[in-house]
Amino acid sequence: MRRNNPGATADNLRSLFAAARTVRRQAYAPYSKFKVGAAVLDAEGRVHAGCNVEVAAYPQGWCAEASALAAMVAAGGRRVQAVAVAAVSAEPTTPCGGCRQKLAEFAGADCVVHVLGPRSVRGAYRLGDLLPHGFGPGHLRRR
Ligand code: THU
Repeated sequence: MRRNNPGATADNLRSLFAAARTVRRQAYAPYSKFKVGAAVLDAEGRVHAGCNVEVAAYPQGWCAEASALAAMVAAGGRRVQAVAVAAVSAEPTTPCGGCRQKLAEFAGADCVVHVLGPRSVRGAYRLGDLLPHGFGPGHLRRR
């Protein structure tokens, strides 16, 4: 079978997608009413999920992707091999600019970000296409 993500099996992706859709129900989005769930598959094959959390002081809220990454780091994960983002929206919900940067901290350019609706996969994007020429840990090396 041809896979669209190196290392991620069909079973991994099924778990990843289920986690993103399930955690979306926990989203705390009383202001935007826009609930998002995200899940990351780490290098060990573990899935970590998180939802968006809004705050009355609006800019203090954070995205589902940030929650999922924080869960991964807290569990000792350091490398992301696939991402899923679940939302119900007119346009497929791709990660915001800040989350693209956060994902790039832990994932390579070939990492696939799967964008999900409640029952369908609406798109799959390489992180390198979502964040071309991004600043990364390598830029901090002195020449
Ligand atoms: N949001 C996410 O959690 N992830 C995305 O990829 C896009 C936007 C959240 C932030 C905010 O709580 C709500 O969606 C509306 O922007």
